[in-house]
Amino acid sequence: PPSGRDRLRVAIQKSGRLAEPARALLASCGLSWRESRDRLFCYGESLPIDLLLVRDDDIPGLIADGVCDLGIVGRNVLSEQDLANRVDGTGPRFRELQPLGFGGCRLALAVPETWSWRDASQLAGKRIATSYPQLLSKWLADAGIDAQVVLLSGSVEIAPRLGQADAICDLVSSGSTLAANQLKPVQTLLESEAVLAGPAADFDDARAELMELLLRRLDGALRIRR
Ligand code: PRP
Ligand code: ZN
Ligand code: MG
Repeated sequence: PPSGRDRLRVAIQKSGRLAEPARALLASCGLSWRESRDRLFCYGESLPIDLLLVRDDDIPGLIADGVCDLGIVGRNVLSEQDLANRVDGTGPRFRELQPLGFGGCRLALAVPETWSWRDASQLAGKRIATSYPQLLSKWLADAGIDAQVVLLSGSVEIAPRLGQADAICDLVSSGSTLAANQLKPVQTLLESEAVLAGPAADFDDARAELMELLLRRLDGALRIRR
């Protein structure tokens, strides 16, 4: 990370499942902010810890590029980007510092309810739609299954009905999105939850102490919740 900064910048999701709980957890650590007019940047008041409100998928890249120092993001998003960086030779560029105990979900393979499911070998030769091509490709390779990965950035659950794919690999939380699309989960690839993420390398300026302080307070806040 670029040195010489004396404030910590934490990226959180702007809107979505992790947005409110992430903010609430940081507030329970004693952080407070003065919001900017556009509300995408929140200036830390009680401590020099600012918030940047972004798309969750952008958080690993923001940390890797040193635009943000820390981030609260799903392990699924972090792992997918980490695999991509390892595959293209640019990683590892960030790491999971602390699981946060909310936003629990799993990355799972799901097939139409009409399939009689025995095991994953049934996926050979099939098309699987996903927003997680790295995690899916690695799992398929490890399992020795030759299937086609169809990359979609959203609305993955509708792909089988549209004839774009035979199966999907997506996040399952309550399971209601799968059910609404007549799909059933058949195999978990990754157990996920919100995590605190940081750069692969340590800070060499005032941010090191700020990060330690935040980790200590998070530890205390998470203890009370358990
Ligand atoms: C995930 C996933 C499904 C939905 C499943 O999206 O892509 O759309 O949640 O949840 P359910 O099992 O409770 O129905 P996410 O909230 O991560 O949003 P994003 O893909 O837009 O980031
Ligand atoms: Zn997202
Ligand atoms: Mg989604």
